[in-house]
Amino acid sequence: MRPTEIEALIDEMTLEEQVSLLSGEDFWSVAAVERVGVGKLRVTDGPNGARGGGSLIGGVKSASFPVGIALGASWNTDLVEQIGAALADEVKSKGAHMLLAPTVNIHRSVTNGRNFECYSEDPLLAAELAVAYIKGLQEKGVGATIKHFAGNESEIERTTISSVIDERSLREVYLVPFEWAVKKAGTWGVMTAYNKLNGTFASEHPWLLEEVLRKQWGFSGIVMSDWFGSHSTAETVNAGLDLEMPGPTRDRGEKLIAAVEAGTVSRETIRDRVRAMLTVMDRTGAIADFAPHAEKAEDRPEHRALIRRAGAEAAVLLKNVGVLPLFGKNRIAVIGPNAKTAQIMGGGSAQLNPHYAVSPWEGLVAAAGEGRLSYAQGCTNHRFEPTAKGDYSVQYFANRTLSGDPVFSETLDEAQAFWIGRIAEGKVDPLSFSARISGSFTPEVSGTYRVGVYSAGFAKVYVDGVLVADAWSDWEKGRTYFEEGCDEVVGEAKLEAGRAHEVVVEYATKDYASLGIAAFHLGIGLPLGPEAIAEAAGVAADADVALVFIGRNGQWDTEGSDLDAIALPGAQNDLVAAVAAANRKTVVVLQTGGPVEMPWIGEVAAVLQAWYPGQEAGNAIADVLFGHADPGGRLPQSFPVTWSDNPAHSQDPMVYPGQDGEVHYREGVFVGYRHYDKHGIAPLFPFGFGLSYTDFSLSDFVVEDGRFEAEGVVEVSVRVTNTGHRAGSCVVQLYVHDHEAALPRPEKELKAFGKTTLGPGASEVMALRLDARAFAFFDPEEGCWTVEPGVFSLRLGTSSEELPLEAKIERATGLTLPA
Ligand code: BGC
Repeated sequence: MRPTEIEALIDEMTLEEQVSLLSGEDFWSVAAVERVGVGKLRVTDGPNGARGGGSLIGGVKSASFPVGIALGASWNTDLVEQIGAALADEVKSKGAHMLLAPTVNIHRSVTNGRNFECYSEDPLLAAELAVAYIKGLQEKGVGATIKHFAGNESEIERTTISSVIDERSLREVYLVPFEWAVKKAGTWGVMTAYNKLNGTFASEHPWLLEEVLRKQWGFSGIVMSDWFGSHSTAETVNAGLDLEMPGPTRDRGEKLIAAVEAGTVSRETIRDRVRAMLTVMDRTGAIADFAPHAEKAEDRPEHRALIRRAGAEAAVLLKNVGVLPLFGKNRIAVIGPNAKTAQIMGGGSAQLNPHYAVSPWEGLVAAAGEGRLSYAQGCTNHRFEPTAKGDYSVQYFANRTLSGDPVFSETLDEAQAFWIGRIAEGKVDPLSFSARISGSFTPEVSGTYRVGVYSAGFAKVYVDGVLVADAWSDWEKGRTYFEEGCDEVVGEAKLEAGRAHEVVVEYATKDYASLGIAAFHLGIGLPLGPEAIAEAAGVAADADVALVFIGRNGQWDTEGSDLDAIALPGAQNDLVAAVAAANRKTVVVLQTGGPVEMPWIGEVAAVLQAWYPGQEAGNAIADVLFGHADPGGRLPQSFPVTWSDNPAHSQDPMVYPGQDGEVHYREGVFVGYRHYDKHGIAPLFPFGFGLSYTDFSLSDFVVEDGRFEAEGVVEVSVRVTNTGHRAGSCVVQLYVHDHEAALPRPEKELKAFGKTTLGPGASEVMALRLDARAFAFFDPEEGCWTVEPGVFSLRLGTSSEELPLEAKIERATGLTLPA
């Protein structure tokens, strides 16, 4: 539509109709205004797939792509753009118009629960990948909603905390991916963060939304709140928040009409917000979408192939002493809690119901045949007891006390539920009901089982009529269900093999703090003891090579909760040590959403970090282990030796996790490798590091600085040669060092990179370009970017610590660029 047509449409709408477009109708959509021919806008999470309009659990199946940190590790903008395009198909298959993605918050702390969802500790890497992802999506007419703007670098008290960040750090680090997304990819959507930024909720922050986003960067899309992240009427509307999500509205509707009538919001401001909505609805086709909502599961072969390739491109080979790739007919011991369980994604709103999930065991069976494999689990790594599976019947009561007759019944195929939106066919209020969930548990082995329950709402668990776990009487807020749930309450029950033990959960909603969620999870598990580790060591001793699949899962790497530590959970360190002592060809395959401490690093032959690579996990991992694919990943985050080496780790709780409602980013711009450089701390594995199965040399480093003085532009080229005997990929990284500056600057900053895949003996000249911003710092006094006169070094290589090529350039004058 032309701008004049949009204006005419706004003129035609009543104030009520205009206001109806500024808040959700339900969890995932905005109501149509049929009278004037405006269709319905639908959105979906995001970012590693398109889940569709259901709950976080179950729902129509979707393609599961590698998580954000895995895409960060790929350093491959072409690949990420292809993933964006594939996601556009997925969004369309779910009848939606916008994807709630990408997530680009910065890896400030290694313990952030959402590290897995975000790309990197480095703003440039995160920004370049976000641009590629958004282009892929939007070229197919699906809107991106880059999130969470801004300062959501931790999950602790995220809906209330104030992130206190100085302007220079915001501009140089935290805002960069958003800025690039607006300026270089023209993102159609931005989602505000839950938290406050310097004392004001991001959803009602005029400086952030109007001054920076719209005026300085030229944003012309919509700004929407994070779910339940709007806390006011006039303030959010006036500050520039177009859409309150989800619906039904808490802050707008009649309240907003009253605010207009009272004069606290002008009709012109309403027009601005409606204009943004209609513009984006036009771009995405939502404006003409009156079709009944339909969701399809489209398991496409081209998506399978892309996901498998991406998994290998993201896998980072951290150590390899002559053991990988596997070849010959060797006998392989397959060990560890992640071997037979496919860990494909993190937890929270990014969760979806995948078409399928290939475990490492299945990938290895397909690659090598089961005859060569032996198996032992060794230990567990779960955070919560394993979900109780089997048929569970649910009786719903239209009160919070399980009284009277149930008003609705249904069956679950496991003992967990996440109730949002319309439930029990509308017969109960989703925020005020109770339920009795009944089923049975038949163990294969007799023993003393752990029975664990956690819930957003109250829950009690009875086994054979005996109360075993009580998350009702002394319910306390914990770190589950986005901080609306309690921590897991665990009891014990002696259970007999082969006997069906009756299991009943009584559940009731409670008043929520911030997010209207009703949910519970019941887990029943038998702990594994030291004998399981001894058995695994025995299996390893009998094999030629031992593969140990360890790490975390989406219970740990999840939205709504930060990690307490970065040590591997459970007895996994003991397991690796025991296996490595039994077999010197021990290969650790790590799946986590961020760094872990590796006390056994000197004892093992190889370590491969495979992240959460999506539904093809096991196949992608097997491709790398057997050398059908080169390990293409390079670390998007520094891996410290211990947690205390990390920039956000501090004796001062104000720095992390925060205190009295505030978290202070006191390390300033010194995040990630900038911190390790500043304090002279050697990381376990540096930012940008990762091995290939082949070798590369870099030569013919040419720096063309003829335009440096006038425009700040420098062209660089380098010859990359594969000097090994296999095809493989090389990530070339270019860092800038400012020799002298008015403000303390990092020792070096990544300013350009490129990835190339070359056959044995092949060589290529790679060109990289730096513009003035690559040399600038943000001057908070002047409110602009400054390139000072003086000498700059360009350092080029294959990781932040391996930079063999260096050139110096100098400029005589300064340069300033607007904010
Ligand atoms: C998350 C968002 C997500 C939204 C909708 C929130 O809890 O922070 O990233 O898009 O829920 O599911």
